[in-house]
Amino acid sequence: MKTLSMVGYGYWGPNLLRVLNSMKQVKVKYVCDLDEKRIKDAKEKYPDYIYTKNADAVFEDKEVDAVILATPIEMHYPLAMKAMEMGKDVFIEKPITGSSEDAVKLIKFAKEKKRIVMTGHTFVFSPPVRKMREIVKSGELGEIFFITSSRVNLGIHRKSISVIWDLAPHDLSIIYYLIDEEPIEISASGRDSIIKGVPDVAFISLKFPSKIVANIELSWLAPTKMRRTVVVGSKKMLIYDDSDPVDKIKVYDKGIEMKDPETFGEYQLTYRTGDMYAPRIDTAEPLKIEMESFLDAVETRISPPSDGEFGLRVVKTIEIADKKLYASL
Ligand SMILES: NC(=O)c1ccc[n+]([C@@H]2O[C@H](COP(=O)([O-])OP(=O)(O)OC[C@H]3O[C@@H](n4cnc5c(N)ncnc54)[C@H](O)[C@@H]3O)[C@@H](O)[C@H]2O)c1
Repeated sequence: MKTLSMVGYGYWGPNLLRVLNSMKQVKVKYVCDLDEKRIKDAKEKYPDYIYTKNADAVFEDKEVDAVILATPIEMHYPLAMKAMEMGKDVFIEKPITGSSEDAVKLIKFAKEKKRIVMTGHTFVFSPPVRKMREIVKSGELGEIFFITSSRVNLGIHRKSISVIWDLAPHDLSIIYYLIDEEPIEISASGRDSIIKGVPDVAFISLKFPSKIVANIELSWLAPTKMRRTVVVGSKKMLIYDDSDPVDKIKVYDKGIEMKDPETFGEYQLTYRTGDMYAPRIDTAEPLKIEMESFLDAVETRISPPSDGEFGLRVVKTIEIADKKLYASL
């Protein structure tokens, strides 16, 4: 049995701790947070753990095999580095670090010291996204032409980061998980509609070596909440709507066939509108699959699906897109 500990019990940490607490194959030893009130809340729920404000005390304990970091992004690098120096494997909430430079250093160190680094890109572990990847990889959609993604709702306006840092990690992780490619072109534009200097709407465009293109729309300023990814292929098209309570994925047998021209320039297009089906999707909780995947990596020493490199790919894209976004204001 592996012994894990949590550092950071703010908004997101409690979700991870709830899952860890339910896993029979894990022993949780410490919960660490700088905030007295957060410690008090956790203690009321889980009286048996050891509580501390001092992350070093957690890292120094030889019984602890791995730590879960759910702290604000600026603490990811120093805490993960310290934990790895003390021999721990680390699960770092997304995004892995605040800069690609730090992510590269973390990955290099982990490789040298043979530590597991996993990034908490929850969507990689969500059954609809896994089903989507299965369909894309099976070739059912044909050649993938393009992907569009929307993640918009009203608020919450952040003051210190752009809408890209806030929302893009999700869409980028979904797209990278679907197609296993790194973009060769990244562009972005947007607007600081409400608070000057804080972009609240952004459009990111990506181009991949396989010629797939992708567009991501992100906004804190929208009349309704939308979390939607559309994959358009040469044979079929797919819509993943995370807000749909029943059929999150729909596969459409729709497309366009082009017959060879009989005379020069006379193309014949046939529009095909066949059936639609919604595949059955597991109801397993993404966070449970995510934590099991981390534990599996700690036990087998095999890199998990959203490893450090995966997290770096996301951060690298965000950095470039964010720079272009600010330049467009
Ligand atoms: N996977 C997801 O879908 C998802 C969703 C929300 C947030 N997150 C990520 O989770 C992380 C935390 O976000 P949050 O919204 O919970 O932030 P938060 O500010 O609500 O909580 C962070 C907690 O960390 C504590 N903390 C800060 N520095 C510390 C230190 N040195 N030692 C111990 N505790 C420390 C703070 O006191 C706070 O309680 C971020 O990386 C965020 O991007 C992921």
